[in-house]
Amino acid sequence: MYFYFYYFNRNYKINSYFSFMSKDDKFKKVISHAKEYGFIFQSSEIYDGLSAVYDYGQNGTDLKNNLKDYWLKAMVQLNENIVNIDSAILMHPKIWKASGHVDAFNDPLIDNKDSKKRYRADVLIEDHIAKIENKIQKEISKASKRFGKSFDIDQFKSTNSRVLGYQNKIIEILKSFNQAMENDDLVGLKKIIENLEITCPISGSKNWTDVKQFNLMFGTKLGASAENATDLYLRPETAQGIFVNFLNVQKTGRLKIPFGIAQIGKAFRNEIVARQFIFRMREFEQMEMQYFIKPGTQHEWYSKWKDNRLAWHLSLGLGEENYRFHDHEKLAHYADAACDIEFNFPFGFKELEGIHSRTDFDLSSHEKYSSKKIKYYDNQSNESYTPYVLETSIGLDRMFLAVFSKSLIEEELADGSKRVVLKLPKILAPKKIAVLPLLKKDGLPELSKQIIEEFKWEYNTVYDEKDAIGRRYRRQDALGTPYCLTIDHQSIEDGTVTIRDRDTMVQERMKIEELKVKIKNELDIKTWLSF
Ligand code: GAP
Repeated sequence: MYFYFYYFNRNYKINSYFSFMSKDDKFKKVISHAKEYGFIFQSSEIYDGLSAVYDYGQNGTDLKNNLKDYWLKAMVQLNENIVNIDSAILMHPKIWKASGHVDAFNDPLIDNKDSKKRYRADVLIEDHIAKIENKIQKEISKASKRFGKSFDIDQFKSTNSRVLGYQNKIIEILKSFNQAMENDDLVGLKKIIENLEITCPISGSKNWTDVKQFNLMFGTKLGASAENATDLYLRPETAQGIFVNFLNVQKTGRLKIPFGIAQIGKAFRNEIVARQFIFRMREFEQMEMQYFIKPGTQHEWYSKWKDNRLAWHLSLGLGEENYRFHDHEKLAHYADAACDIEFNFPFGFKELEGIHSRTDFDLSSHEKYSSKKIKYYDNQSNESYTPYVLETSIGLDRMFLAVFSKSLIEEELADGSKRVVLKLPKILAPKKIAVLPLLKKDGLPELSKQIIEEFKWEYNTVYDEKDAIGRRYRRQDALGTPYCLTIDHQSIEDGTVTIRDRDTMVQERMKIEELKVKIKNELDIKTWLSF
């Protein structure tokens, strides 16, 4: 049950609702761009798709790998005392008992007796609030049309009686809603649904069952015959694979506390309402790091890791204003401090990464359930103890969405035309260089291929000769390729090419050797990660 609060409490902030609705269109553009340019596809699309499961296409995979690499470099390569592992998805079922997931990893569900459809009780309430928010938006857009340029949105929101009425209604609902969630009050949740007269979107009826808990873990079976099969779970987080390998890694790596174990891998959660594209998926990837420390030092490390992780995010240059910390007031059973780094997604500020001071809960619990001693022996102080753990946990897909959505920009150019450009941090761009012969003749394609040979060993480089040069530039802009190299007749004569910068569209003629230096400098990982 603690997990349950841990997941939901944070999301119910009035601000998130206000910003969510107004940015709907931008979000639709993000989704369609991701598909059109080969970043993300609906899983099993030709069979009408599988809800909340997505495939990464040719460009999405490159971007995702670059994100992993950026995290791994900062986390493992640059920290002598942090190592990387890759544990199995299938694990002994007792692990999930020890971790608390079997008993507490739940969502509150409610069924409509007429349509037989199942809903998450909290989401029904959330949707109801969103409808009220929609009414506020309608009032705002009506007024903005009426007042034209002199319209002051803040003044309107704080003085218009209808808008104020809607806002008060939302505040009132959120008050009882948060209270019900905090007190694990399933009867209270049902009461809110009844009081708000929420109807089933399918049957239209208010004929609801009681609210029940539903475990989010996916079950599967191990074994050839039904009688002998063992029930297993697909892991809902990668963290437990680290905890159960604590001694293996510490001993074989002769690691001394403080040290960290990092892992990137798939996690699975049977999310009942999985919306918002890759923000909440049923199969997703996490990048987690568990930092093992001496008991009593956790507050110091908590604050250090908060600073470190925020600095990592800021190093990508997506804008400081798009991040904020949200401290958890109600803590999970294993934590003595926890916060999220929230990001300004197209639907408002939401959790991107969690930083949790997990005490000795996990190692102690595994010691108890496995009956194996899991202690660290400190040969300097001559004492043996269960280390405390400081966790940083980020969803790779959420990170993808954060970077992708913030980078997708529609610009109006000086001549009045528009361009869609994916201003990804250059270090993350799927393809770094596009080589474009001005014409498909006169030896220009051949020279282009030679130039690709110069770059492809170090950078993902593509060749494109189709369409007019302007269209090719636009295509690379939409894919986020930072550099277009145009090869023309002068290139054959003097070995210079034109380099066009994706963001500024400035074109410069340079020798290949100069180009190499420029690109190397701009993509130097040391510059990006020196924070
Ligand atoms: N080991 C701690 C843990 O798993 P969490 O807050 O449940 O904590 C960590 O998850 C991160 O994983 C979240 O901050 C989020 O970025 C990502 N995440 C969680 N559930 C997700 C889902 N259904 N789809 C995509 N990402 C998810």
